[in-house]
Amino acid sequence: MSKKIFSGVQPTGNLHLGNYLGAIKNFVELQNEKENKCIFCVVDLHAITVKQEPKELKKNIRETAATFIACGIDPAQSIIFNQSMVSAHSEAAWILSCVSKIGWLNRMTQFKEKAGKDKEKASIGLYSYPVLMAADILLYDATHVPVGDDQKQHLELCRDIAQKFNNDFNAPDFLKVPEPLIQKQFSRIMSLKDGIKKMSKSDPSDLSRVNLTDDKDEILNKIKKAKTDPLPLPEEAKELAKRPEAENLLGIYSSLKNQNLEISVSEFSGKNFSEFKEKLSETLIEKIEPISKEIKRLLNDEKYLDTILLEGFHEADKMASKKIKEIKELVGF
Ligand code: AMP
Ligand code: TRP
Repeated sequence: MSKKIFSGVQPTGNLHLGNYLGAIKNFVELQNEKENKCIFCVVDLHAITVKQEPKELKKNIRETAATFIACGIDPAQSIIFNQSMVSAHSEAAWILSCVSKIGWLNRMTQFKEKAGKDKEKASIGLYSYPVLMAADILLYDATHVPVGDDQKQHLELCRDIAQKFNNDFNAPDFLKVPEPLIQKQFSRIMSLKDGIKKMSKSDPSDLSRVNLTDDKDEILNKIKKAKTDPLPLPEEAKELAKRPEAENLLGIYSSLKNQNLEISVSEFSGKNFSEFKEKLSETLIEKIEPISKEIKRLLNDEKYLDTILLEGFHEADKMASKKIKEIKELVGF
């Protein structure tokens, strides 16, 4: 069955291995199933839910587009566009926020994590962020949404919003209820410095993540310094349950190799970390170095990136304008 794929990545800098293995690698595989129609969005409206430096944001928008392309998203096959250019996203987000319940948003764990202790000081945008995400998806009648594990709850909310809108406006099946596509294994890559913390753009320590713009030496250094435990690598995968750092590093290796965790465990069974880390660095460099070089090459060609984003905008805008018109009609505008 052909799928209509939609996903988004925030242009907040430091795109890392977690973004790649949890999301972008999957985008490329879905694109390569020829019958799928794929739309990938640089979600800059989401980025401003926390303060951004305007010049940095502009640079990061191009860098995110460059990263998509460098990772293998082909602009001739898939739509790559910038969210803020298509005004229907903001319009749909407002309308959908009027059918969404405060109680639903109050359950969102990402808001609680991002807002921290002082929730009163968080922006309203950060709070209503998942409604904008629902608008992104529903405007394109997406059937499937590939994301990392941390976005699962937001997708469930999107499904609730779609159903509520269809119900409220007596329009069965008008907004398509999308399916999440979350990888069964390795859907949450953890920090290199702490195996129970998610690898994140905002971690103050750059040693906690492999950035997609890192070169060979940076990767070698980060893997060398990655946290481990004193034991040799286990003989069985079930022994990893109490060894988060070993589990994460073996997970990264397996995901890069497209192999089961069990196979990686047997490959390094009883060996020490230094031997495994050597192999892991080698595998990472093989995969990430070409991406990193290509991102840098593309960033020198702003004109090309802007053309891709402009072409993507025209295609996305055509679809989204049609849908928002129908939404407004149903609402009574
Ligand atoms: P963001 O950078 O927050 O816009 O995330 C872009 C995509 O990467 C989303 O699908 C996230 O779920 C995914 N992602 C972000 N961090 C990780 C991680 N540490 N492990 C797996 N997936 C991740
Ligand atoms: N909220 C997602 C994240 O932080 C990004 C995103 C915005 C998204 N809109 C989307 C992902 C639509 C999938 C579909 O990772």
